Amino acid sequence: MHKPKILVTRRWPEPCEARLEALFDVTFNTDNQPLTPAELRNAMHDYDAVLPTVSDKLPAEVFGEAPPRCRILGNFGVGFNHIDIEAARQHGIIVTNTPGVLTESTADIAMMLMLMAARRASEGERLLRAGQWTGWHPTQLLGTQVTRKTLGLIGFGRIAQAMATKAHFGFGMPIVFYTPRPAAPELLERFQARQLDSIEAVMREADFVALHCPGSAANYHLIKAENLAHMKSSAILINTARGDVIDNQALIAALRERRIAAAGLDVYEGEPNLDPAFLELDNAVLLPHLGSATNETRVAMGMMAIDNVEAFFKGLPPPNRVV
Ligand code: DGY
Repeated sequence: MHKPKILVTRRWPEPCEARLEALFDVTFNTDNQPLTPAELRNAMHDYDAVLPTVSDKLPAEVFGEAPPRCRILGNFGVGFNHIDIEAARQHGIIVTNTPGVLTESTADIAMMLMLMAARRASEGERLLRAGQWTGWHPTQLLGTQVTRKTLGLIGFGRIAQAMATKAHFGFGMPIVFYTPRPAAPELLERFQARQLDSIEAVMREADFVALHCPGSAANYHLIKAENLAHMKSSAILINTARGDVIDNQALIAALRERRIAAAGLDVYEGEPNLDPAFLELDNAVLLPHLGSATNETRVAMGMMAIDNVEAFFKGLPPPNRVV
């Protein structure tokens, strides 16, 4: 039987690649470098499905003028702000994502960034690795306590709730949050949480502010100088969502001038080319987009992306369709 012709834009975990090979006439990008816009444009015309991920940019130009051969983009990842969804819709291309399976690992990274930034873990490790640790003393690398401090969440979806669970029940942290829509009363009840009426209100009250809103045109630079100005000078900002949710220049200025204490970042505007000014800041903990980077999660993401594409080619509705 004719197997659909499929392009996978980056290497996937081995069990996922094995399943893809069994199901489809699959081409892997064996050198694992991001495809160029021209390669992605050609892929849309040469394959029945393309399986991209967050490091692939698929703006309208990639879809081209003529109807492409590709009928489904099975995205490896929950976020799909790298795909021009409107262009996909106009070309009748289905887009799917992988919600749910990366919730806990991403919330874990948010917790880790919060703890690392609060307890100056990166500074400590740099000191030690530089051979400059002269031994314990009472005022060395003093951080700030996390336990029982207030956590403010911007966005209150799956990942924010998973972080709230770990922070509230594990670290006794009171939870405040902002989302534009009223949250279900049982959620407020579960975390004894308070929904505040603006981002600024969360910024003013929280000791740690963690961003959990999707990357989108609407959320571009949602966090800018004006709202950073409402944070306590002792407060710490955590971002595991998307880099461009924060105006990175405004954040660099706030960190440099110590208007906020620190930041823990997993994502950056224009990544992987983050602004080199971040590297100069001792009060920034920087990770290379590791939110979902566990074996378990990445295999689950791949399997979910395959489930979507397999369902489509069997004539069934893909379970995680976004367009
Ligand atoms: C996603 O799935 O959108 C993540 O950012 C990848 O870890």
